[in-house]
Amino acid sequence: MTLHCNLLTLFPDMFPGSLGQSLSGRALEQRKWSYDAINIRDFATDKHQTVDDTPYGGGAGMVLRPDVLENALLSIKPEKRGRLIYMSPRGRVLNQKLVEELTTEDNLTILCGRYEGVDQRFLDAYDIEEISIGDYVLSGGEPAAIIVMDACIRLLDGVMGNEDTAGDESFSNDLLEYPHYTKPATWTDTQNNARDVPDILKSGNHAKINEWRHGQSLALTQSRRPDLLKK
Ligand code: ADE
Repeated sequence: MTLHCNLLTLFPDMFPGSLGQSLSGRALEQRKWSYDAINIRDFATDKHQTVDDTPYGGGAGMVLRPDVLENALLSIKPEKRGRLIYMSPRGRVLNQKLVEELTTEDNLTILCGRYEGVDQRFLDAYDIEEISIGDYVLSGGEPAAIIVMDACIRLLDGVMGNEDTAGDESFSNDLLEYPHYTKPATWTDTQNNARDVPDILKSGNHAKINEWRHGQSLALTQSRRPDLLKK
C-alpha cells in the first residue's frame, strides 16, 4: 500500500517540511508515499493573481474564492484525487481510527486554508470533508495537513522498521502507553537521586511483564484520560 497526497495550498514550500526527515523522509525517498504541492495562486485568473476577497455580509478577514479553488482542484486528474479533505477546526476531530481509515486510501487531496476560510459553495459543490486536528486554531491548515500525513505515513507497509511497533502503542487500543526504561539499570541524576528500573522488567518473565505494563497503561489512562476508558 502506498499513498499519494495532493496539497492545495498558498504555501507549497511548507511541504514536505518535517515529512522530509526521519521515517517519513526515508519512506518518501523509497516512494512509499508521494505528494504534489499545488499552489492555489497559479489558478487565479486575473492579472493580480487574486485568490481571495472580502466576505459577503461583512466581517474580518478574507475568504478564498470558489472559482480559483475549483480550477486548482480540477488540475488534478480525477483518478488521482481520492478523498477530498479540508483542514479546518470545524471538522471531525482526528483520532487513530480516522487515521486508519485514511491510510486505506490510495490518494488524498488536502485543502489547506489561510485567512478566515474558504467559500462554503466550493466545499458543498465537491462534498469536501472537514478534518480538525484539535480544539485550537492554527494560522493555516498546512501544519495540520502535515500531522494528518505523518500519522498516515507511519502506518504504510514497510515504513516502521519493526512492523509490530505501530500496533503495540497508545490509541491503537484506546489506552495510553506504559512507561519505558533502558540502560543504565540504576541512574543517579545530578541531584544524587539513584533511580532504578522497576525489578519486574528485569525478571525475564514476559507474562508478568505484559501484565504489569497493561496495569500501568490502565492506571495512566484512568488518571490522565478517563474519557478514553468510557469508550
Ligand atoms: N486550521 C486551523 N486550525 C486548524 C485545526 N485545529 N485543525 C485543522 N485545521 C486547522
